[in-house]
Amino acid sequence: MNTPLDNPVLRVEDLEVRYGNLAVPAVNRVNFEVRRGEILGLVGESGCGKSTAAMSILRLLHPPGRVTHGRVLLDGIDLLAMGTREHRALCWKTISLVPQGAMNALNPVLRVENQIADAIAAHEDTRSKGPLTPRINELLALVGLPSRVRRLYPHELSGGMRQRVCIAMAVALRPPLVIADEPTSALDVVVQRVVAQSLLDIKNRLGNSMLLIGHDMGLMAQLADRVAIMYAGRLVEIAPVADVFRAPRHPYTRQLIESTPTIGQRRPLAVNEGGPPGLGTRTAGCPFAPRCPHAMPRCANEPPAMAQCGEDWQAACHWSAQP
Ligand SMILES: Nc1ncnc2c1ncn2[C@@H]1O[C@H](COP(=O)(O)OP(=O)(O)OP(=O)(O)O)[C@@H](O)[C@H]1O
Ligand SMILES: [Mg+2]
Repeated sequence: MNTPLDNPVLRVEDLEVRYGNLAVPAVNRVNFEVRRGEILGLVGESGCGKSTAAMSILRLLHPPGRVTHGRVLLDGIDLLAMGTREHRALCWKTISLVPQGAMNALNPVLRVENQIADAIAAHEDTRSKGPLTPRINELLALVGLPSRVRRLYPHELSGGMRQRVCIAMAVALRPPLVIADEPTSALDVVVQRVVAQSLLDIKNRLGNSMLLIGHDMGLMAQLADRVAIMYAGRLVEIAPVADVFRAPRHPYTRQLIESTPTIGQRRPLAVNEGGPPGLGTRTAGCPFAPRCPHAMPRCANEPPAMAQCGEDWQAACHWSAQP
């Protein structure tokens, strides 16, 4: 019998992406899978390569960015190897994107109903289908918006409502996989929770899988089943979210968790100095070593590989791998 583990929706294998001739790849031999019905969180600080990975998976990367290695298997079929026409026919129906900053990219002169209708028409032959209004109402209801929103223009909506319209567009054709790039980052805390809840409601109603990109571990705790932590273009830890919160293996993961504020917090936030190395600087060892409180001599020279450290748990860290 096949289990969800045998048959992931998406498998990313050894993905490497470079910008121009920069010394270091923006995405550096990354491997992960999105399992059926799960929300996989992809987390890391600004510039670690999350959007580059997402855009590469969807073949939406612009030059000078280019995929230099790897495969992206959607239901076992390599998206990177297929013809443009074949790929276009597949996109949006099987995999869709809520892009970073989507809510600010809505067309200001189109009513909500026309934006959603255009998204549907671009990927489906709408001539043979009935009127779109009932479908649009249903999509709006799915993201918790009343049907009167259909007739409004983007400037008449709050940020949270605009973001929910973008989510409605991404799920219009019921794709089994949705990639949501920082869907709540531009919103205030209360609205973040509302939008996060609508992502969860959609997943529960439609049964889709989701790659949820963000840098907020609190959001991941609320939504994700597993999290993949990225640092300087590499994956450093991947595991079920509860395990990661209970006992993070990678010191970077620990710092991400400790830098998440909680209500009534008395301890200072663990935000460490400095930032990840830029793409112009090659590092011989672990890219996190200069900021790592546990760095050992070996860490400066030898990049740690992802290794199994629990049943469904991998991390790339010499220190935590010690007996
Ligand atoms: N067009 C480009 N040309 C050159 N370098 C780029 C380009 N776009 C992104 N980069 C670099 O690639 C790296 C990864 O960027 P990316 O936007 O994927 O990060 P991110 O994790 O999505 O960050 P954020 O949280 O800010 O959205 C960064 O070092 C960035 O400066
Ligand atoms: Mg990004």
